[in-house]
Amino acid sequence: MLQVKPTILVTGGAGYIGSHTVLALQKAGYEVIVLDNLVHGHREFVEDILQVELVVGDIGDRPTLDKIFATYTIAAVAHFAAYIAVGESVDNPAKYYRNNITGTLTLLEAMVAANVKKLVFPSTCAIYGMPKQVPMTEDHPQNPLNPYATSKSVMERMLADFDRAYNLRSIIFRFFNAAGANPDGLLGEDHHPETHLIPLVLLTALGKRDSIAILGTDYATPDGTCLRDYIHVADLAHAHILGIEYLLQGGKSEIFNLGNGNGFSVRQVIETAQQVTQKPIKTLECDRRPGDAPILVGSSEKARAILGWSAQYPDLKKIITDAWQWHQHRHR
Ligand SMILES: NC(=O)c1ccc[n+]([C@@H]2O[C@H](COP(=O)([O-])OP(=O)(O)OC[C@H]3O[C@@H](n4cnc5c(N)ncnc54)[C@H](O)[C@@H]3O)[C@@H](O)[C@H]2O)c1
Repeated sequence: MLQVKPTILVTGGAGYIGSHTVLALQKAGYEVIVLDNLVHGHREFVEDILQVELVVGDIGDRPTLDKIFATYTIAAVAHFAAYIAVGESVDNPAKYYRNNITGTLTLLEAMVAANVKKLVFPSTCAIYGMPKQVPMTEDHPQNPLNPYATSKSVMERMLADFDRAYNLRSIIFRFFNAAGANPDGLLGEDHHPETHLIPLVLLTALGKRDSIAILGTDYATPDGTCLRDYIHVADLAHAHILGIEYLLQGGKSEIFNLGNGNGFSVRQVIETAQQVTQKPIKTLECDRRPGDAPILVGSSEKARAILGWSAQYPDLKKIITDAWQWHQHRHR
């Protein structure tokens, strides 16, 4: 018989990575409560597909947090709730600083008050800025180039300070490009607006977009287009379980990169999507976008050594096949 494990609060659990982590937590036997304001999340992911308790509320709303911590015995928090669109953060930094930083501060204060002192947190490779060397390791110098990345950098700093002052232990995962979907096609990536390459390519294959722009074809890479590190969302979800278990066993705060270890070019993504979907995907070759690094690839050696984590689905074709299952289901 499956032994019932502690209860985990998942903020942003109605979103892309949060919902996959809820699924992985359920499979590992944990009880889960989701807190999501549904600004970008999907109610049906939580209520119909995952069938866990959804509290519709905001991480910045202290009374809601206090009520959750008073009602349930929460062992740890997986904190995915954030705004994530880089371009929007440049146009409207106040929105990002208020939601991501102030919201997280409110959550951390409520956790300390309730004596809940374990948290896993998705950060981003974007806090490194332009790579000085690849693969990038956790000690790579930091230079966030936009308000979204700055907000994550500040939140990381807050977590270090809360550890020192209040013994709140955290695992920070700096991940590269989340991609793919649960293979059953029921959960997947559905951001509004969508800014990530793989869903944009698949929406083009579905005829929902006319074409996909290739932003720069003259980089010093094998085919002239940018290389990125795509990591299957199921691998990210699994890492969060390992992080929670590490903390529940008394582990100290740590920061880990999570990446595939391989870079794939924009052209490789489009060609692989064409093979998987068997559909024509029209491309537009455009100028470089300012601020884009030619190659962003992470080293996950530290996560492998300490957590025993490694990517189980590093193959680009598998990542795109699973994402395609989801997109076909979503747009049928
Ligand atoms: N998608 C990626 O490639 C990527 C890469 C690195 C880090 N991350 C981080 O992972 C996390 C999840 O990203 P995602 O792609 O699943 O995004 P997402 O937009 O799908 O999910 C975020 C969820 O948080 C909710 N939310 C936002 N603000 C909230 C608030 N104030 N209170 C309650 N709920 C709120 C949204 O409604 C949404 O359901 C984010 O913290 C993001 O910064 C994502």
